[in-house]
Amino acid sequence: MDDHARYIGRTAKSGELFKRASKVLVGGTTRTSVYFPPYPAFMAKGEGCRTVDVDGNAYIDFINNYTTLIHGHGFTPVVEAVRQQAGQGLCFGAPSEHEIRLAELIVGRVASIEKLRFASSGTEAVMYALRLARLFTGRNTVAKFEGGFHGAYDDCQVSYKLTAEHIAEAADPVTILNSAGLEAGVGDRVVVLPFNQIDVACAAIDAQADDLACVIVEPVIGAGGVIPADQNFLEALRERTAHHGILLIFDEIMSLRLGYGGAQQGYGITPDLTTLGKIISGGLPLAAFGGREEVMAPLDPTTGPPPIPQSGTFNGCATAAAAGTACMEHLTREALSHLDALGQDLKHGLEQLFRRTATEAQVTGFGSLFNIHFSAAPVEDHRGAARADQARVERFFQALLLRGQCIAPRGMICLSTVMGKAEIDGFIDAVADALASGEV
Ligand SMILES: Cc1ncc(COP(=O)(O)O)c(C=O)c1O
Repeated sequence: MDDHARYIGRTAKSGELFKRASKVLVGGTTRTSVYFPPYPAFMAKGEGCRTVDVDGNAYIDFINNYTTLIHGHGFTPVVEAVRQQAGQGLCFGAPSEHEIRLAELIVGRVASIEKLRFASSGTEAVMYALRLARLFTGRNTVAKFEGGFHGAYDDCQVSYKLTAEHIAEAADPVTILNSAGLEAGVGDRVVVLPFNQIDVACAAIDAQADDLACVIVEPVIGAGGVIPADQNFLEALRERTAHHGILLIFDEIMSLRLGYGGAQQGYGITPDLTTLGKIISGGLPLAAFGGREEVMAPLDPTTGPPPIPQSGTFNGCATAAAAGTACMEHLTREALSHLDALGQDLKHGLEQLFRRTATEAQVTGFGSLFNIHFSAAPVEDHRGAARADQARVERFFQALLLRGQCIAPRGMICLSTVMGKAEIDGFIDAVADALASGEV
């Protein structure tokens, strides 16, 4: 029996739920990233770093809702905050004090943010950041990087995912639309830049500067393969954008977890705008965008109708803001040091294992966020990630699932503060076992 058959054998209830779901939900799910063939395991319960599916299979959760649950599942302070606020009203058509507390907390940590606004999803936060940049500069085009994922807004559905075929013949970088049905002209108003290539990226910025409103970049590319930017690359982007009056936007929706003040603190670089999401919500839908006061000012309704009106029924939802506050209050410097230490052990352990077993694989990332790539060549940008063996990483994911370890199908691994040495050792043992099985 192969891993595929074994998976089906132990997930009969998930298989039935998937059939039922497919009658009412297109393709049986409601989010492309959670589907994998033949069907995903449906989750019944999460506690700490463990989840249990509807068939009773237990997993150590190395996805944490795609990097959201930094304290794992059912973290008591978050659960208590939700319980308390829910008893007093889930959400209101009015502001609540929780929004202020969470905003104060973020402004106190992320040095570049003077003022912020909340949204319900990262997609919306990015959309508003781009809108603010266009208004502030009076320019129309935006620049993003190959492999940079910034959500579902039309302008961001460009070149976030490339395949080996895309890059085989195409020059670096290539503009492709990752979704059908986008507004006409999106490909023309989005400039795609190569990640970690200072000269090419800066030359393109210089050439397009007259109509460039902003450059948006993840300091550590997340969905595109967990690839950190080089220090001098980000410094060059800061210098070039400032020189031309172009806004520099750091999308830290995923990378905030990499430092007390986000990845930008570690790099020591101050963007004009920052987008946040995932961990700031404690696990409920909430995101944010913020930055220099003068850039954020067009949202201000106190002196007349704002040039950029911001709508959103669930913006700053009281319960989500309460959960987010509890989560972030407990993400102390000590908690982050704990994550860093676990992450170092994980990376070191995997690298040793790959060397010992002569496996052509490497681990990118740092802190609590990593990606395994089955590639012998160094992965320094999304092109490198796209060149890695995709079929093998999917088999690897499946093999780990059978061993009770849940990572993202694309090889992404994220840690939570409730993990310890036992979970890291257990993971490395499971990887060793999967590699030895001959199924990967
Ligand atoms: C860096 C980054 N930006 C934006 C988004 C979009 O956020 P959301 O899924 O909340 O719309 C994501 C989601 O994974 C992300 O990783």
